[in-house]
Amino acid sequence: ITPRITVVGSLNMDIVVSMKRMPKIGETIHGEEVHYIPGGKGANQALGCARLTADTRMIGCVGQDMFGETLLQQMKDNGIGLDGLEAVQGRMTGTAHISHTPDNNCIVVVPGANESCTAAYVRERKVAIQTANIVMAQLEVPLEAVMEAFTLAKSGGALTILNPAPARPLPEGLLQLTDYMTPNETEWELISGTDDQDENRLASSIAEFQNRYGCNVIVTRGEKGASYTVDGKLATFRAPAVKPVDTTGAGDSFNAALAFALAQGKPMHDAVSFAVTAASLSVQKFGAQDGMPTLEEVLGTQSSD
Ligand code: RIB
Ligand code: NA
Repeated sequence: ITPRITVVGSLNMDIVVSMKRMPKIGETIHGEEVHYIPGGKGANQALGCARLTADTRMIGCVGQDMFGETLLQQMKDNGIGLDGLEAVQGRMTGTAHISHTPDNNCIVVVPGANESCTAAYVRERKVAIQTANIVMAQLEVPLEAVMEAFTLAKSGGALTILNPAPARPLPEGLLQLTDYMTPNETEWELISGTDDQDENRLASSIAEFQNRYGCNVIVTRGEKGASYTVDGKLATFRAPAVKPVDTTGAGDSFNAALAFALAQGKPMHDAVSFAVTAASLSVQKFGAQDGMPTLEEVLGTQSSD
């Protein structure tokens, strides 16, 4: 059966400047190229799900400007219905200002129209949420919208995945509505209040958090892969060694693939392995969305391991 996934989140135009290395604070350097490419964690994750053949919907907002038009067209071209999306008045389309080197990136996000994705906006589109198998969200839209989405998701019997990015302190009520949370290492340090350099501490912080809130935590760790716990012990699925071209959107690819696998009822180990494989494929192409793999690509890579 085709998984039905609804993403509540951001759409941004990514303004990517490639450079050989990051400038230091106060320093001016020459960049190599500038690209304007569709991004935003919500849109990236939705597109990642659609590429894996999920029946995907997205709830979010752009502005009434050229960037907005481009972003909506990109969703449409990738088979994501526009019913949950709107070009709202009075706000510019969100932008992400990305400094990109081959193996790293720094991002400043200006939310703009993403702020119009409020709880009320989400409630008006609740059918898309209540009919989904999985509802997922990130933190580039107002927190109240995520709360509303997850409340509706639970009333409709969907699983919820929260990608807590960019990180911020989270209300307990939201954690209780979250089935799976997928921070990266930095985000996990902020959310759990522990630094995870040591793998034993990572295991205990995850286990403790899960006991407290009843939400499964999977920490994404870049080239180290992703970790979760089984009976309090750390389980890590290592990423295959690849030469990265662009790590922007690797987390989004992970989340999309995790959602797809969980919607199919895959056990945790298989879902995480599928997601790590998808993310490692995504970093081999430039841009957050272009590298999102198809289902065949992920399955082909897994079987050749
Ligand atoms: O996760 C990557 C995304 O974060 C980029 O596409 C950018 O828009 C930022 O929101
Ligand atoms: Na990429």
